[in-house]
Parts: sequence; C-alpha cells; structure tokens
Amino acid sequence: MSAPVANPCPVETVAWVGKLPGHCRLIEQTRLPLETVFLDVHDVAGMVDAIYRLAVRGAPAIGVAAAYGVVLGVQGEERRSPADLLTHLEKVCATLAAARPTAVNLFWALQRMRRHGEALGARGLGSKALIDGLYAEACAIHREDADQCRRMGAFGAELIRDGMTLLTHCNAGALATGGMGTALAPMYTARAQGKTIAVFADETRPLLQGARLTAWELSQAGIPVTVITDGMAGRVLSEGRIDAVFVGSDRIARNGDVCNKIGTYTVAVLANRHKVPFYVVAPLSTFDPETADGSGIPIEERPAAEVAEGFGRRTVPAGVKVYNPAFDVTPHELVTAIITEHGTIDRPDTARVEALLRRAGVLAGVA
Ligand code: MRU
Repeated sequence: MSAPVANPCPVETVAWVGKLPGHCRLIEQTRLPLETVFLDVHDVAGMVDAIYRLAVRGAPAIGVAAAYGVVLGVQGEERRSPADLLTHLEKVCATLAAARPTAVNLFWALQRMRRHGEALGARGLGSKALIDGLYAEACAIHREDADQCRRMGAFGAELIRDGMTLLTHCNAGALATGGMGTALAPMYTARAQGKTIAVFADETRPLLQGARLTAWELSQAGIPVTVITDGMAGRVLSEGRIDAVFVGSDRIARNGDVCNKIGTYTVAVLANRHKVPFYVVAPLSTFDPETADGSGIPIEERPAAEVAEGFGRRTVPAGVKVYNPAFDVTPHELVTAIITEHGTIDRPDTARVEALLRRAGVLAGVA
C-alpha cells in the first residue's frame, strides 16, 4: 500500500472551530482567487446564507457544511426535553434543506443527522448526550468525506497515464469537498504517483468556478492549468489536445444520468463527438437512487443578475430576459465511467448503478 496522498489545498474549505459550543469556519469562496478570507458561521441562518451565496459550494462540501449547520442549530439547547430537541432538530434540518435544491449531498447529510438524532433518542439519551452525538456525527461525515476523496483519487488515477492532458468543468476539487476533491482527486493522486499531467479548466459561466477556483487550487498544487472560456471546449477537443474529461456531480440518478454544473452536458456531447472518455467522479452520497432518471432532478435557477451583471458589470441590455439554470443533466449514454469510493461503474445504466449501490449496502431497503 502506498502512503495516502495529502490534500494539496493550502486552506481548509470547511472546519469546525472549538468543541461544543463552537462555530463553523468556511473559506469565503466568493472572494477567491483575489482574497483568501474566512467566514465564521455561528447560526443556522448564517449557514443557509453561506450555502445559497456559494461561500461554500460543491456538493460534498455543502453536505459537510449542512451537517455542521445542524450542530449550530442544536448546540446550547440542552434545556429542551429530548423529545422537544428532536422536534427542533426537524425544524433545523428543514431550514437548511431550503438553502439549495440540486446537490443531493445536502439532503443526504441532513437525513443522516436526523436519523442519528432519532436513533440516539430511541436509546433514551438525554439532551446533552444527543447534542454531543450529533456533533460527533457531523465530524464523522466530514472525516468520511475526506477518506472517500482519497479512495476516488486512487481509482481515478488508474485511468490517467503519464503525459495526459485533462479537461475539467466547474470546480470539483478540495474547495468542493471536505477532502481533496472528486474530479480533481485523481489528478492530485496521479501527480503524487509521479505522472506528469496538464489540465484545461473551463471558465464555467456565469460564476466562474473553473477560472476562479479550479485554476487557483491546481496552480497552488503545482499542476499546470490553462483556463478557457466554456465556448472554447469544442475547439480544444477538436484540436486533439484533450485525452480525457473529468467532472464531478451534484446528483446521479438511478440510471446513471449525471447532473452537474451548467455546461457539463455540452462538454459530454463534445467529448463523445471527439471520442474522448468522459469520466464522472462522485461519492455514493451523490447518488439519488429514488430518482429513476435525470428528468426527475430539480435544477436550481439562480438570479438573472448573475448572468446580466456578473461581478458588478452589466453585460446585457436592461430589460432583456435572462435564463439562468445552474445545472444540467448529462444522459448516462455519454458517460464512459463513474468513479466512486467503492470502485468504478463502466458505461453506467440502471443495472450497473444498482449493482454497485447494492454491493456498497446503499440500496438495502430501497430496492
Ligand atoms: O454551484 P456549485 O459551485 O455548487 O456547483 C458545483 C458543481 O457543479 C460541482 O461540479 C459538483 O458539486 C461536484 S463537486 C465535487
């Protein structure tokens, strides 16, 4: 066994400060790459705001932040009876769930926190022990996420050969998770294995997660990265510059349809046209086995101003309509493989996704 690959990100995306009572510290991603500043979040409303504004973003990081958000909501509530505390927990989870609709990791983490609270309540624990138990569960979600990133990195690195040039969209790195990332983890791992790689990062309109965040974290890690605007991906692929595409996901339906940042579908179609493998890297917490296919995935629509006056400058005539869906769905037929912490699903379809989820114990009780 080789030594685990260290997280190359110089800052912690999500951290809990202190024990109980404590608070959550996030890197304020809306200010990157110009400023590296932190945001201390002390209550549930602050966490909902941070998630909505994309101060913390990326599906797994949203899940970790939401779990800590639950702790922010229950800490200091020892005087409630255990039954009352559990009712309060429900309300806290419902408030956090309204922050953003698409990344299923948010709902996955909240469900895990709620179920854990209920299990502790059923054992007759008092309110203090319940709160301590919820804090421990949030820390476990964070720890496990970091471990899953390492495992996805190891599986994904097997697909990367020395000298390859990779294309990625949005940011699915350390800034999007509690560890070293999903789509970027294989790159970090390949690099640690001594392979030379280069990366093209789509700028990712309208909020520029590729230009601002992926380029920032890859260059910090010493991986050569070239930013292109989203519309240039076709040109770059047609020039034969790209050996493989690696992206993350916000929600994967039971048939393997992949929801990810707007523009991912375009890249998948282009990759298919140019016979370049299109890999999706995501932990099992990103799978939504209750949604049969991509048509059932809720797509967040964000304010028109993000398109019309991005970063403080109006670029669309006043009064002109703008449509701003934040995500799209790539049909599973266009996906070469999905890389998870439990291994790789080649050419995903319902049977193959179900087989992996059963093997991992996720489908017990759902199928
Ligand atoms: O709107 P964002 O920045 O939260 O969107 C993030 C993405 O689309 C990522 O690709 C996805 O969450 C996977 S992150 C490991």
